[in-house]
Parts: sequence; structure tokens; C-alpha cells
Amino acid sequence: MRNIYSNIFKVNKKNLSRAINYLKKKQLIGVPTETVYGLAGNAYSKETIKKIYVLKKRPFNNPLIIHYLDLEQLKNDVELHNDFYKLHKKFCPGPITFILKKKKNSLLPVMATANLKTVAVRIPKNTIIRKILKILDFPLAIPSANKSTHVSPVSSKDVFNEFGNSLKFILNGGVCKIGLESTVVDLTSQAKILRPGLISPSDISKILNKKVKIYKGSKFVKAPGMLKRHYSPGIPIRLNQKKANDNEAFIVFGKKYKKAKNIFNLSYKADLNEAARNLYKILRLIKDKKYKMICVSSIPQIGIGLAINDRLSRAAK
Ligand code: TXA
Ligand code: MG
Repeated sequence: MRNIYSNIFKVNKKNLSRAINYLKKKQLIGVPTETVYGLAGNAYSKETIKKIYVLKKRPFNNPLIIHYLDLEQLKNDVELHNDFYKLHKKFCPGPITFILKKKKNSLLPVMATANLKTVAVRIPKNTIIRKILKILDFPLAIPSANKSTHVSPVSSKDVFNEFGNSLKFILNGGVCKIGLESTVVDLTSQAKILRPGLISPSDISKILNKKVKIYKGSKFVKAPGMLKRHYSPGIPIRLNQKKANDNEAFIVFGKKYKKAKNIFNLSYKADLNEAARNLYKILRLIKDKKYKMICVSSIPQIGIGLAINDRLSRAAK
């Protein structure tokens, strides 16, 4: 019998070197990170970058995040400054992406950054992706491993469900520890959060010792991908509800909801980190169960709760 997951590989020495060979040959692979699974390719290869946009069906005006092993490697492509160094010292490697000015002599193809003069850079913490980055002599462009507008993947099977066999190689690093994408902070002028994540605005503002703005998506389009419908299971969603209609999947948070057929609890013990880890898994499960409507109870707007509510409200657009 044919194994439908014939392109998912466990992590061992042999498979890590296969992963590295794919990347050296300018091919794409699925990789785990601490936030969500990513679609990785050589960031310095125009041909590879184009493959990423095509496979994800991503609009070419939505730039990619470039992933580096460390500061030494990252400084080849972007201009660094004090605020960056402070945040780097505290949070890297980790689930935070910085928008910085691109260096004139950077080798990144303009397509990777959608013609912008800035680059989104991240130093991931996951040990598997770090082992890969350590061996390569180029950084990796790694967007989330989902088709454009879909929910991000948090397991290797989720990646398979997005791309099937059109992706030749997916490394299985288990379920992602955080389960939501990294915090994106724009450091090209006064620090501004473009996408909330585990590292919260107040965490950042404490380190910088100043107020940090939260970008609310005004007429000024900072990055097109930040505004459109996103993270969407493809089913209508109603937010901040107390009660669900019949036949609606009801996503809830905390103890006050009894177990029932239509109830999907993000965290029975009302733990926001657990809720973040469960969110995308539950959205995929609801879609698989063929529900036609989703409603969601209110979720506290603190810490990673900001990121959960951000993803839910974009999914609902
Ligand atoms: O946690 C993560 O960041 C994951 C894992 C795989 O590392 N990656 C990820 O990448 O979420 P992606 O491509 O799905 O999301 C990148 C976001 C997009 O919303 C994009 O618009 C924004 O970062 N972005 C990229 N470059 C930018 C830039 N120069 N200025 C503003 N926003 C940028
Ligand atoms: Mg994404």
C-alpha cells in the first residue's frame, strides 16, 4: 500500500543532510520552527524565491521573512541600530521578526522583499532549523507553509495537507511549541508592532524603555499581507459570542463551557499559551468536520491573547 505521507521524514542525521542538499540545489522543503511550520528556500536565489511565491500562490507584493543563524550572518543584509541590539539581546533566538533597512550591498533578490527598501529578519530558536542554518552558507526565506490566505500549519501533516506531493520533502519536528507566527516589529522608525505574537508590545516596550505603537492597518499600507483576509479556514466566523446557533462550531476559552458536540475548547484551564497552541489545530479540525459556520467566545486581550484575537479577526474578514 502506498504511504500517503511518503514525503514526510523524521529527523535524523541522514534526513538532515538530505534536507540540506535540497536547499543547496535551490529546492523548497517544509521545516518546523518554534512558531509554525515554514516553507524554506535559499534566500539568495531569485529562482528559489520565485518557487516560494508560486507554490504558496502568494501575491508578489507580500514580502518574505528571511531567517538567519545569528547576528553575524544577519548583518550582511540589514542596517543594525541600538533598539535592534537591545531586543536581539533579550529575545533572540526566538519568535520575533524585525523590519530593518536593507543594506545596499545585500545579496537578497528584490523579489524576496517585494521591492521594498526594508527586510523582515528573524533568528529562529527551533534546534532543527538551527542545525540546518548552521551548515548552509546562505540564509533561508521561510514563510509559513500554507497556501496564501489559509491557516498556518503547526504539524508536518498540516504541511502535507496544504501542498500534498507537490512538496518533495517535509521534515517532521513534532507539533510547534508556540503555534502562532512570530511577533513582527518594525524598527525602521519608532518601534511599531505590525503583527502581534508571543512576545507582546509591553515585553518590547519594557526593553526599549519607551512606548511601542501597534499598527492598526490604516490607509497607509505598510505590508499588503498584513491587511487582507488571512489565516482563514474558509468558513464564516462570528467573534465575541456568548452562545452558538445549532450546527455552528463553537470555539471557547475556559471552564464555564460544558463539553458538547459542537464545542471546541482552546484551553479548559484558561491558559492563553495553550490556547495559542491549539488555535490553528482547532480551525483545521472544524474545517475537516465540514462545519459551515464558526462562532467564538471572547478571549482575554492580554499577552498572547492579542495575537489570538488578531488572527481570529483576520480569519473572520
Ligand atoms: O513565525 C513566523 O514568522 C513564520 C515562521 C515560519 O518563521 N513565518 C511567517 O512568514 O509567518 P509569513 O511569510 O507567513 O509572514 C510574513 C509577514 C507577512 O505578513 C509580511 O507581509 C510581513 O511579514 N513582512 C515581510 N517583510 C516585510 C517588510 N519588509 N515590511 C513589513 N512587513 C513585512
Ligand atoms: Mg503566513
